[in-house]
Amino acid sequence: MADRGADPSLRYHNKVVIVTGGTKGIGEAIVRAFVKNGASVVFCSKEETASDLENELSECGPGSALYVSCDVTIEDDIKRLIEVAVKTFGQIDCLVNNAGWHPPEQIIDDTSAQEFQNLLSLNLIGYFLTAKYALPHLRKTQGNIINVSSLVGIIGQKHAIPYVATKGAVTAMTKAMAIDESQYSVRVNSISPGNIWTPLWKELSSHAANPDVMILGGKDAQLLGRMGTAEECAKAVLYLAAEATFCTGIDLLLTGGAELNYGNKNQQKTQNSIYN
Ligand SMILES: NC(=O)c1ccc[n+]([C@@H]2O[C@H](COP(=O)([O-])OP(=O)(O)OC[C@H]3O[C@@H](n4cnc5c(N)ncnc54)[C@H](O)[C@@H]3O)[C@@H](O)[C@H]2O)c1
Repeated sequence: MADRGADPSLRYHNKVVIVTGGTKGIGEAIVRAFVKNGASVVFCSKEETASDLENELSECGPGSALYVSCDVTIEDDIKRLIEVAVKTFGQIDCLVNNAGWHPPEQIIDDTSAQEFQNLLSLNLIGYFLTAKYALPHLRKTQGNIINVSSLVGIIGQKHAIPYVATKGAVTAMTKAMAIDESQYSVRVNSISPGNIWTPLWKELSSHAANPDVMILGGKDAQLLGRMGTAEECAKAVLYLAAEATFCTGIDLLLTGGAELNYGNKNQQKTQNSIYN
């Protein structure tokens, strides 16, 4: 393990961070950013191991990385994740709830209650339970929680009713949790990314009739004319954890201006969906 007492100028030196869904995409970038800034990071996903990433990060340092297999839809797995973090590092300073999924396009007629419940269990209840079991430890360190939500939880998205509902709930839950935990000086914030190029986006575009057209649309949805990067999300998360000490209950938009300006939104004139 890297020397945790090394450089006090590191932004999250000697702190312990849990990142759910840390093996790829936004979560992986968050894990890398914290390790680079001196933290001991416990990261999880559903896979059995992530030894290559774990070894690479711990060798690079200056922080360290420990992988724990944990499906955040299973309460016992979450309890174990928290237990391993506390047993190994003695404390928790920051929880980043990130593990989530966006299903391919779906209309309400084709969406079952079970599918909706499964997504709620992953995207919302998983965040709730991980916070629930981390909070007794975060209260001791006056730590913080960062929930990875989504812009579409605020502005909606076509053919994504369950996903939008889960993310809207994450943003709302963040504020409710910030209120209750303020008495312990625990801060609770969220980030709401717009389109970020990750393995999830790649997977979603592979389901489209024309992936290149979908990717171009994904870029053009932002005023800045491109998708965001996972590294840009990680920088925002590190800022909320390390420097934003007077922020609680905020939702930081990382959207390249996607929510600004009027656009052509008359669906009767702009229908190009497979459903219409
Ligand atoms: N990519 C985007 O454009 C975008 C935009 C807004 C919000 N988000 C949100 O950001 C988060 C990360 O998205 P991403 O694009 O990096 O996705 P991704 O699919 O690239 O990575 C998701 C990570 O979550 C893990 N994971 C999935 N199910 C899990 C489970 N049941 N238990 C534990 N881990 C699990 C995966 O193994 C992986 O490590 C999600 O919550 C997503 O909704 C993404």
